[in-house]
Amino acid sequence: MIETRRHQGFGPTGVSSPGKVAFMCGIVGYVGPRDARSVILAGLKRMEYRGYDSAGIALVADGHIDIRKKSGKLANLVAELESNPIPASHQGIGHTRWATHGGPTDDNAHPHLGAAGRVALVHNGIIENFATLKAELSAQGVVFTSQTDTEVAAHLLGRAIESGLGLVEAMRSVVARLEGAFTLVAIDSQTPDTVVAARRNSPLVVGVGQGENFLASDVASFIEYTQEAIELGQDQIVEIKPDSIEVTGFDGSPATTRPYHIDWDLSAAEKGGYDWFMRKEIFEQPKAVADTLLGRINTDGELVLDEMNIEVSELRTIDKIIVVACGTAYHAGLIAKYAIEHWTRIPVEVDIASEFRYRDPVIHRSTLVVTISQSGETADTLQAIRHAREQHAKVISICNTNGATIPRESDAVIYTHAGPEIGVASTKGFTTQLIACYLLGLYLAQVRGNKFGDEIRSLVEELEAIPEKMDQVLDDLETVLTLAGNSLSEPSILFLGRHVGYPVALEGALKLKEISYLHAEGFAAGELKHGPIALVDKGLPIFVVVPPQGRDQIHDKVVSNIQEVRARGARTIVLAERGDEEAMAFADVFLPLPVVPTLFQPLLAILPLQVYACEVATLKGYDVDQPRNLAKSVTVE
Ligand code: AGP
Repeated sequence: MIETRRHQGFGPTGVSSPGKVAFMCGIVGYVGPRDARSVILAGLKRMEYRGYDSAGIALVADGHIDIRKKSGKLANLVAELESNPIPASHQGIGHTRWATHGGPTDDNAHPHLGAAGRVALVHNGIIENFATLKAELSAQGVVFTSQTDTEVAAHLLGRAIESGLGLVEAMRSVVARLEGAFTLVAIDSQTPDTVVAARRNSPLVVGVGQGENFLASDVASFIEYTQEAIELGQDQIVEIKPDSIEVTGFDGSPATTRPYHIDWDLSAAEKGGYDWFMRKEIFEQPKAVADTLLGRINTDGELVLDEMNIEVSELRTIDKIIVVACGTAYHAGLIAKYAIEHWTRIPVEVDIASEFRYRDPVIHRSTLVVTISQSGETADTLQAIRHAREQHAKVISICNTNGATIPRESDAVIYTHAGPEIGVASTKGFTTQLIACYLLGLYLAQVRGNKFGDEIRSLVEELEAIPEKMDQVLDDLETVLTLAGNSLSEPSILFLGRHVGYPVALEGALKLKEISYLHAEGFAAGELKHGPIALVDKGLPIFVVVPPQGRDQIHDKVVSNIQEVRARGARTIVLAERGDEEAMAFADVFLPLPVVPTLFQPLLAILPLQVYACEVATLKGYDVDQPRNLAKSVTVE
């Protein structure tokens, strides 16, 4: 029973296995006897949760391609199609976008055209070398109409088709030039009854119909027509026609595929087979972290950040940083303080956004304000930005939503690439915010000369090893799921941590209280003896995050704190490095963590706490994705 919690007892999720889901645009392809417009719009609707910055559709009719695309929600595209109908067709592609490169505008919406409208293409992922390819195409006279990396692939495909290649071979020539993560789906006005796609590090699944076939980012988009599917493997190209499905490797070799039967209902399909979006998003974190790290080191081995529109010379004059955020994002900011101060020696203050401007903060032109926001629309944080800019501070925002208000009102942005976070309780938003904070700290250390290039690259390599270590934690949840089942009647649960473990304790408490409605509180472990220890009574569950061994004396002090509460009857749930015998000795329940550098331990320690909160709330029968009294984005002060 417990194991099914992770996968809901389902087989493959219809995308690559949990934790491996890539970027979160929604893609649909169709060929068959039905009205392609209806099939594609219905499929996009089923996947709108994957991205809703813009939507578009392209169909082949009478030997040419018709395209409609609009920024904003799918409803905008539907309205456009009503006022500007598209001809009937039985062959087409569609896309809902979660913007990564280029804001959510009509021009940046997919599909994108190549060869003067002969081919249309949609894309999910990031093409890391798009700038080089774009420069090459521009030098050859190609005129771009968007800021996207996708349009580069569309023009490469168009030029391959114009050179005389068929659609499959043209796609093969395109993927040979791309680096990064991508699912590409394309149609050619001169290749009837055909849709061709390619995938690398990004989901794509084939829906196998009778006299019709489907392509999609996940099965939710076609499950009402067929429950037979084929999961495509890495570096594969697929050609679908009404009565055939041909799969080959990027190198042209025949490919083995794995057909399977989908036994989900539609609701489960939209959650990738999980019971909650939150649980799905917990397991997406390894891939979300990997995606947020993608493309951050340039060909010279230097750290590069997207949309860092502040001159290096200005960054070198910064003499104070103030991090401003709310809730979970604030907890990420507390962790950022330890890392940025350690690497750059710049003093860092961390403020709750709703407190920031009322404390009359000391801000100069040499102050850098860093805001953190998953939604990019949090009113408290937005008002803090406006206050900071009135005081002539530079503002960098860390955000997960391309084109949101907060990035638009900032001087520079570091985008996380977690994809849409639907569950109100933030999970992948938090861990990808940490990644962005670490990248900012290392970037500042690089431009200010606090760290050598090799030191920075070594730390980035440690970060690049995190997704695998996250998977290790997420593959070993039996103990924490059992613990959740034994916690349902607890009146209160405490969380302790020291150094970067203290914000983890705060975040673990927030996760639990906001979805299970249990009282939970996080404390700095060293602060317990100054009052809160009076709360400790027999059997009180206390989670304790223990720093890595050998971390000065912090580790030993936390082990002492565990003994203090245990001596007073607490039930200690200890999160510590695997093999930490000292910590294990005082643990009623031990949750082992892989070995990582101290500053990066929050990326792993938070995972069992997220899973624990989700499981407690599930077992209590609450709506985990939409807890009472809460909203995903708090756009009021
Ligand atoms: C976290 O689980 C909560 N949903 C909430 O604290 C959230 O982190 C906070 O409202 C900030 O939201 P933002 O990141 O979108 O600005």
